[in-house]
Formats: sequence, C-alpha cells, structure tokens
Amino acid sequence: MIDIHSHILPGVDDGSKDENMTLRMLYQFSNEGVDKIIVTPHFRHDQSEAYLDKVKQGFLKAQDLAAQVSPDLKLYLGCEIMYSSKALARLVNDEFMTMNGTDYVLVEFPVLAQFNDIASAIRDFVSSGYIPIIAHLERYQFIGKVEQVHALVKMGAYIQINSSLILGKYGFTRKRFIHKLIKRGLVHFVASDAHNDEKRKVTLGSSYKSVARRFGKETAADLFIRNQEKVIKGEKIGV
Ligand SMILES: [Fe+2]
Repeated sequence: MIDIHSHILPGVDDGSKDENMTLRMLYQFSNEGVDKIIVTPHFRHDQSEAYLDKVKQGFLKAQDLAAQVSPDLKLYLGCEIMYSSKALARLVNDEFMTMNGTDYVLVEFPVLAQFNDIASAIRDFVSSGYIPIIAHLERYQFIGKVEQVHALVKMGAYIQINSSLILGKYGFTRKRFIHKLIKRGLVHFVASDAHNDEKRKVTLGSSYKSVARRFGKETAADLFIRNQEKVIKGEKIGV
C-alpha cells in the first residue's frame, strides 16, 4: 500500500516527537503493509525559512531510518498546506513543496470552513495549475451533501479521507455519508494521517480489509494503491 498523508518527520510539526518515534512509526507502516509513504508536514502561510530547512533535514533523517526498517520502504516528500491565499502564493513561488514534485498538492482547511470557501480555494489551485487533494474530508463541518462533494470533484479536486473514519472514529452518521461517497466514486484516497505511534497511529491494514469487504477489492486497490501510485508519478487519475 501507499500512504499519502502523514506526519512522521522527527521533531518538525505536531507529528513524530523524535527519531525513536519516527522509527517506531516506520515499523508500523511496514507491518501494516505500506511500502511507499509521501510524508506531509504541516505548512502555513507564515512558515519560516528555518522550518523549511528543518523539514528537509528531517526528511533525510527519516529516509535513513526507513532504510533501517526495510530496503523496500520508500519515502517521498510533500506537505499539507493549510489553505490561505498567502499560502497558495508561496506555493506558486516554489517555496512550498508539492507531492513528490508533481502538480498534486494536499490541502487542508479550518474545520469550520464552509462549502463556498473550499470551492473558491479549489478554483484558485486549479487555475494556478495544481491538482488539489482535499485532506480528511470527514473532518469538515459542512459535509453532508453528496452533490456538494460532487461539485468539488467536478472543479478538479480529489478527496482524501483518514483511515480512522473507516474504523469508526467519527461515528455512524459521518461514516455512512462517506460510504455513500465511496459508492459514487467520490473518494480517491484513504490515508493514515499518522501523527504518532499511539493515539493517531498507522491503521491502514485494517481499514483496507474493511473497504475490500464492503466495496470490493477493485475499489480498495484504487483507494489504497493505484490512485496513490498516480500521485507519485504525477499522472492523471480517471474519475
Ligand atoms: Fe495531516
């Protein structure tokens, strides 16, 4: 499997605290059946030069640690951008990184963001030449209408949900809504969004099994492997 959303760089953001935790998280990934990881430290519009350096150093360190876990475990660099017009401007200016240097960008919004805010941000990303992936859709309060999610996808957005949703973290109603989206082909990625090796750890193996049981192996392969492969290569995902 491939994970496209995680916070495993040691001592960089609110994810892994140190190298020991990063190593434990990398073992979790490997044990869950993940062999490629796009690491996505948080980025906000006011991120300093020093933070960017910390990310780059942390990534090199994490690559060394991954090699200790398995020669087959590969890391790629991306980031998770908290949307604002200033953050987009820094991305356009090449100060922030896209997913493995492709046109794909992982974007998050404040929990209270409304549909219109998100729609206008998606238009901005697309018109600037990017392919936005909306991070953890299940977390936003506005969700609840399939047609709105469909509209975002039609504008050019791709949808990522966290594996914790599949495992029931957000309750029955939200899970049922996300299941509707999966049936309509409106979810493109399930990701770990792992922050540590305890409460917000890697749980991709069990959620893969759950999706394969409910929606079939083809859908599970798309949501955990094939679409992610396209992100790494910078190829278009068919919708
Ligand atoms: Fe995240």
